[in-house]
Amino acid sequence: MTRKILVTAALPYASGRIHLGNLLEMVQTDIWVRYQRLSGADCAFVCATDAHGTPTMLKAREEGVEPEAYAESCRAAHMRDFEAFGIRFDNYHTTHSPENRALVERIYKRLADGGHIRTRTIQQAYDEQAGMFLPDRYVRGECPSCGAADQYGDSCSVCGATYAPSELVNPRSILSGLPPVTRESEHKFFRLGPFEEPLKAWMRASNLDRGARNKLAEWFKEGLKDWDITRDEPYFGFKVPGEEGKYFYVWLDAPVGYMASFKNLCGAGKDGEERFERYFGADSEAELYHFIGKDILYFHALFWPAVLMGAGMRTPSGVFVHGFLTVDGQKMSKSRGTFITAADYVAAGLDPEYLRYYYAAKLGPGLDDIDLSLEDFAARINSDLVGKLVNIASRCASFISRGFEGRLGPQLHDPSLHEEFAGARDEIGELYESRQYAKAMRAVMALADRANVWINEQKPWELAKDSSRAGTLQAVATQGVNLFKVLITYMKPVLPRVASDAEAFLRCELAWSEVAAPLLNARINQFKALAQRIQPKTLKALVESSQEQAESGSGRSAPIDIEEFLRTDLRVARIVKAERVAGADRLLRLTLDDGGKGRTVFAGIAGAYAPSMLVGRKVVLAANLKPRKMRFGVSEGMVLAAGEDDSRVFLLSPDEGAEPGMRVR
Ligand code: 2FM
Ligand code: ZN
Repeated sequence: MTRKILVTAALPYASGRIHLGNLLEMVQTDIWVRYQRLSGADCAFVCATDAHGTPTMLKAREEGVEPEAYAESCRAAHMRDFEAFGIRFDNYHTTHSPENRALVERIYKRLADGGHIRTRTIQQAYDEQAGMFLPDRYVRGECPSCGAADQYGDSCSVCGATYAPSELVNPRSILSGLPPVTRESEHKFFRLGPFEEPLKAWMRASNLDRGARNKLAEWFKEGLKDWDITRDEPYFGFKVPGEEGKYFYVWLDAPVGYMASFKNLCGAGKDGEERFERYFGADSEAELYHFIGKDILYFHALFWPAVLMGAGMRTPSGVFVHGFLTVDGQKMSKSRGTFITAADYVAAGLDPEYLRYYYAAKLGPGLDDIDLSLEDFAARINSDLVGKLVNIASRCASFISRGFEGRLGPQLHDPSLHEEFAGARDEIGELYESRQYAKAMRAVMALADRANVWINEQKPWELAKDSSRAGTLQAVATQGVNLFKVLITYMKPVLPRVASDAEAFLRCELAWSEVAAPLLNARINQFKALAQRIQPKTLKALVESSQEQAESGSGRSAPIDIEEFLRTDLRVARIVKAERVAGADRLLRLTLDDGGKGRTVFAGIAGAYAPSMLVGRKVVLAANLKPRKMRFGVSEGMVLAAGEDDSRVFLLSPDEGAEPGMRVR
């Protein structure tokens, strides 16, 4: 019977840009999915943008757009990045979708009806100026344990202590810079404790790596606590039905987003409903796997299966967990230029297939971290892909096109060697299945080495000098092309672009089931290089450009010449009127006297200045910026201010005597 499999990768947050770390997981997942399809399974792959939560809401405000529109634009950017890396989703949806809302509401109702929800009043940090409760990460202060300055409200990056935001010394809201106050609020909690035994049974029965099991065992030992699944307004998410000003916490609706993306793929009609039921009905026989990073194991191996159990729904067949990505042995870092986005990588002119191969060559089934060493990356690609794999075809194809009008011979020179290559299929398949990609890559490269040694021994270039040995030459070259065909079929899950170019070259489809059948008596196309060597300067440029971008983001920009600077027309202006903007808490609408007709500018300074403080004040205006259309009107320039974030903003003002319209230079 054909296996029916549904696979997911963790949903990237809308507010983040896709970087090499996201790609590690997507590539791992995509390889597995492609292998399943190649070997005959019916395998669907869905994902989505994780749209909800406070960061999305605040970023959208900063940009002066609705959070829905902001999340949609992020979704489009994510899709573009993943497509460039050959990640072939069946659907890339969003958690802010009607399907997700309906499923979350249904699940919540079942949990409530089943007695799995309880209401509790909690104390939480509240920012009076911003008018909102603060997520732990929005409070910073000194670590209560080691005293390190400027630590997050949940854990210390210096000593590793974990604590509540209320325990921080000198806490400050990162929104207003003010000390937060403590306020009470009523929240809904999911009772995890009663699921301990069913979760243990689920863990024993499902496909989990040993590292993940160990982690779970630790958590069981610590004891399972209730989980707060609601948040107060203002929040971007789904409203809790029947509750005033309450939203579902983003982490409740995010995994439901897996289901919702699949629901959307199935479509609304009767067939769609039936298909969805075949996967998510309580007695479904379809397999369901989640690929995730080790930081979100708790959500996927405890909360998520327990929520599904509580709602009477099927649970995952397995959770596949990978480690973190490091670059050159360290956490990705903007200042070192190793925080590399998907777009940076593509812009540097690097082939996405190379990254796919490199990750495959490093990935095992466990939680170990994966290091991308840039030097090793170039060396591997140049030696394995270019020097070994592609070389097999390039060494043999020209004899076929030059001497035999592009036609492969009627037989192989060494059928038993070909059989041996084809005989590795099931072992390599098993390695893909169990996510031991590094081993699979080693097995393929060992065969590639053997193919190259064999070609060296046969010396087709010598045979080509002797016209009486044309038959042997054709059989040898035919053998080489066929060994290449076997290996590139094995590599098809990892190198989809190279494999499709190879299919064009061989004029046949590379099928897993056809690996043992050599291509004989067939016309093939002229061989074109399938992969190029990586030049060290390309990687250097990549790191430098990532570094530059990071610097411009943190205000330390790359040097420009004076002409460039002088193109900015800076003028003194006077604030005539300052008003709050409904629907954009961080913005003020400023009416300026600029010495001419006057103008309107929107400034993101409401976190630091009340309108009444500003009237009459002189400021510095960037006067020749192109007008920018915002949701609330057109902004005709920018007033200059110092500061790193919205709350610590300091307007620049000229000394006494400067008048509106005066040039700043
Ligand atoms: O950690 C993250 O990046 C989350 N956005 C992952 C969500 S995965 C799933 F549960 F939706
Ligand atoms: Zn500390």
